[in-house]
Amino acid sequence: MTAELELNPSSLLTGEINVPGDKSISHRILILASLANGVSTIHDLNEGQDVKHTIDILSSLGIQITENDSKTLTVRGGSLKEPNENLYVGNSGTSIRLMSGILAGMPFSTTLDGDGSIRKRPMGRIIEPLEKMGAVIECLENDGMAPFRIDGGDLKGIEYHMEVPSAQVKGCLMLAGLFAQGQTTIVENVPTRAHTEEMFEELGLEVEINDNSVTVKPGRPDSFTYQVMGDPSQAAFWVVGAAILEGSKVSIKNVYTGRERTGFIDVLKRMGADITQDPLANDLHVSFSGKLVGTVVEEKEIPGLIDEVPILAVAAACAEGETHFKGLGELRVKESNRLETIVSEIGSMGMNAEISGDDLIVKGGKLTGGKVNSHGDHRIAMSCAVAALVSAEPTVISGWEAVSTSYPDFAADLERLRK
Ligand code: S3P
Repeated sequence: MTAELELNPSSLLTGEINVPGDKSISHRILILASLANGVSTIHDLNEGQDVKHTIDILSSLGIQITENDSKTLTVRGGSLKEPNENLYVGNSGTSIRLMSGILAGMPFSTTLDGDGSIRKRPMGRIIEPLEKMGAVIECLENDGMAPFRIDGGDLKGIEYHMEVPSAQVKGCLMLAGLFAQGQTTIVENVPTRAHTEEMFEELGLEVEINDNSVTVKPGRPDSFTYQVMGDPSQAAFWVVGAAILEGSKVSIKNVYTGRERTGFIDVLKRMGADITQDPLANDLHVSFSGKLVGTVVEEKEIPGLIDEVPILAVAAACAEGETHFKGLGELRVKESNRLETIVSEIGSMGMNAEISGDDLIVKGGKLTGGKVNSHGDHRIAMSCAVAALVSAEPTVISGWEAVSTSYPDFAADLERLRK
């Protein structure tokens, strides 16, 4: 079912907000709780569809997951069993890549599949190293793509140099490393999100973290209680909204601000935004401080703000001068071809932008509003919604249901903050 959201321009955003639990952390904590011996408790898990797919998959693998109330769930970890059905990840790249790491270590067969977008996304980046570790993986329709069958078991540790900077690939191989004989080392040229290693360390798994590599030894965590912090990628929508709407003042509570997740804050500060971080409470405070100015976002910064490029493009569209984003090739293989959908959708709201190779160049100006489509991509839908607030005319966003991927209450939160 497709849904539309119609939004009128707003004068400003004001107030305090809690954003959903971090999506990357939510997937990982569910998986780690499933591997733990005993019952773990998780608070404030992300409530989007992507994470629900990870819950469903773990349930199909025999793990008992119970929602105690809307904010707390318990996971009875232990041995995974062969599922009776194919495992369906929906739209979730993180589910398919992380779960493949675990399933490669299981002594049984599983088939993973997803929606039309997942079937177009590159899986060779995990298949190749998992096969090096000893898994047998067969793509059932197209080479290097879902659906694929994994015949797991008997893994051996390897040293793997990642070709594409990807925290999903790193996470997948680290999870596989828990079931491999010997140690598994992943070397990265450009640092990516560090959730997997941070969480392994926090939960007492054997992991060695170096500047450009991480080494894992086999093991399982003990059961635990875990609080998921707010997702910085969701906070980014309100941060940009407050930075571009005159008179705005917004506080976002308890946001995760760990390694390679806050690159968007650095970029926005360079553009002149007034953003402060409260180190004790982990809150972000943003006040409108005048028109932003264009900047250059270097290729090496991209992994640290990979999911925030669409909303940064909105900031750039409202800034004075030009913003040049370098090296966005990875955006072509996200939930949509984001390089294209940023330009086509925010472009149809009046953003003046062009793609040059893998770069995006945005010339600041005024947004007009208009009719746009999410292309099934939650971050495109939410970025257009923020753009709608500063537009001259109303905006209609079709395919709005895509926001349920990561932020089902986005429209309600928007209504609370807008004046
Ligand atoms: C994620 C890593 C990023 C990000 C995705 C979640 C993760 O993907 O785009 O939304 O949880 O590790 P890549 O690391 O593949 O770029």
